[in-house]
Amino acid sequence: MSQAPKHFSRHTLTAALPYANGPVHIGHLAGVYIPADIYARYLRIQGKDVVLICGSDEHGVPVTLRARKEGLTVQEVVDKYHSLIKQSFQDFGISFDIYHRTSDPLHHETSSAMFRDLYDKGELTEQTSLQFYDQSAEQFLADRYIQGTCPSCGFENAYGDQCENCGTTLSPDELINPRSMLSGAVPIKKETKHWYLPLNQWEDRLRQYILEGHKDDWKPNVLGQCRSWIDQGLQPRAVTRDLDWGVKVPLPDTDGKVLYVWFDAPIGYISATKAWAAETGKNWEDYWKREDTQLIHFIGKDNIVFHCIIFPTMLMASGDYIWADQVPANEFLNLEGNKISTSRNWAVWLHEYLQDFPGKQDVLRYVLAANMPETKDNDFTWRDFQARNNNELVAILGNFVNRVVTLTHKYYGGKVPAPGTLTDLDLALVADLATYPTKISTALNQYRFREALAHYIDLARTGNKYLAETEPWKLWKTEPERVTTILNLGLQIVANLALLGEVFLPNAAAAMFRMVPTADIPSLLRWNNAGSALLVEPGTVLGEGHLLFEKIEDDVIEAQVAKLEATKAANNAAAKAPEAAKPAITFDQFGAMDIRVATITEAVLVPKTKKLLKLTLRTGLDTRTVVSGIAEHFKPEDIIGQQVCLLANLAPRELKGITSEGMILMAEDSDGKLVFVRPSQTVWDGATVK
Ligand code: 2FM
Ligand code: ZN
Repeated sequence: MSQAPKHFSRHTLTAALPYANGPVHIGHLAGVYIPADIYARYLRIQGKDVVLICGSDEHGVPVTLRARKEGLTVQEVVDKYHSLIKQSFQDFGISFDIYHRTSDPLHHETSSAMFRDLYDKGELTEQTSLQFYDQSAEQFLADRYIQGTCPSCGFENAYGDQCENCGTTLSPDELINPRSMLSGAVPIKKETKHWYLPLNQWEDRLRQYILEGHKDDWKPNVLGQCRSWIDQGLQPRAVTRDLDWGVKVPLPDTDGKVLYVWFDAPIGYISATKAWAAETGKNWEDYWKREDTQLIHFIGKDNIVFHCIIFPTMLMASGDYIWADQVPANEFLNLEGNKISTSRNWAVWLHEYLQDFPGKQDVLRYVLAANMPETKDNDFTWRDFQARNNNELVAILGNFVNRVVTLTHKYYGGKVPAPGTLTDLDLALVADLATYPTKISTALNQYRFREALAHYIDLARTGNKYLAETEPWKLWKTEPERVTTILNLGLQIVANLALLGEVFLPNAAAAMFRMVPTADIPSLLRWNNAGSALLVEPGTVLGEGHLLFEKIEDDVIEAQVAKLEATKAANNAAAKAPEAAKPAITFDQFGAMDIRVATITEAVLVPKTKKLLKLTLRTGLDTRTVVSGIAEHFKPEDIIGQQVCLLANLAPRELKGITSEGMILMAEDSDGKLVFVRPSQTVWDGATVK
């Protein structure tokens, strides 16, 4: 990315609005909220005009699904999680200027007005299409509300948008035997009218804006995703849905239709800015419509297309908005080697961390910033958390600050001594100290938070090294005048650590400032003074020295690991719980299934798949091919010659270009391994199962 600094008069920073369908976890923090907060603090202490915007995303299928799961109304669910999320962000110290919510009437007005504006300008197209509809529930079905068999791997509980077994992205039309999750019924296709944003008409403009305009300053992962979308050819994107939860479509005869959540959510940034401006007497339009304002979206990688392609298109079509100047999207954080998952409770939840580790906000900020998944997915482990706390925060930063402050109290009654003549070693230290602000700024200007933090902790390391080399505790008796210089310079480093630390470790920084009060630098100009060895005036009286961080013992970490183990055990147990009973069928319906005993005569792995076996079966009626998603459970050579039961009259279907004629009956053992269901002794091929 280019390093050329651009000059803006103000900065609008947005942090992805979390869905109000669950608490915030460490993945959200590392991906979005910690970088956004560090960056906002970094701009603020340079005296810049900044607004950091966030709020709860309270619409869309994720919240309605959660309400079903918890047996609450959707309103109850969003109220519950909005308050929990807002409170935990506040307790953690993320410095949002406003934390808004998309159920707020101001947001409904703002997003309706944007839709209406685009509609009136002729920027939306109208299309009628066939959508899945559940007749018994009298409802159109969102993709997530449809389940069926995955065409790639044969998994029977794939969702209409994705198969969670093999990860394939799907559309509901691709599912085999689709069924409604609301009633279990087979959905029908019904006509419905929707409004579309014709992204295809904006392709050239988007190419110019992103692939040319930002080719040198956006992160490669962001550019890569954008390029791939644009190169594949953009399609019109529906911006309305048949749902009864969300912002109503502001057009006549549109009952039961709302704005698509990904249309209204980013407008949430604008509504939040309006609410903030009203509270603070600012003009919201300055933050969204002036060319000298920098717009930056902090997001995770799953949000790139929405923030780089769809939202900018909405803003372009509307006409007088600025577009994002930066979208420093991060990759994902895993937890102890596994993907973080709200539904499987595989996460470290922020509100629980705050309860379990009171007063340790900065430790989590530090560990997550040090492991930030900036260029690739990263892993959080409790052992690494402990090691970084004990070996870096305690042993390097806390230890240095404590030593300098304690020695000053011991030798000078807590009054900052004036320095004497500087030696070559002192001069080298002063010169080195002066380089840190630039090193840190250069990294932060390019959104390289890990590198910036590494430079910061290096400054504390430098301080420790200086003390180890000069050994003031040995000189105190023999060369007391030398000690005044050493401790004065040590205190200048502490003051710099406090100043530069305001962006990374705000609580520790405040504690350092209490111990080592600096000369009267207005807080807005602090960053400009960083690197100076004259921050603390001789004669200043220090506050009490104390340890900034404490060691985290093994038992504390073991308790957290045990909590995760318990989650794993609960997930395994839940996975083994019997599936809910299915609705009754008639004898005739059972009789309609033609189940036969057959023998496997050939078995081979389907090329380029991990899960599919192509089986040849002798059914007594014929010899036929069946593709089955069992390759992870059986070696092909082990099953040749075995008898199985086959649902022989299942309509043929194509899997990876092979026509599969029927389905083999399987059961799952207690470890989740598939086993064949078959006669207890060999029978003739073609025997019916009844
Ligand atoms: O992915 C998510 O969690 C979304 N709720 C993010 C929305 S960001 C913005 F557009 F509001
Ligand atoms: Zn699948």
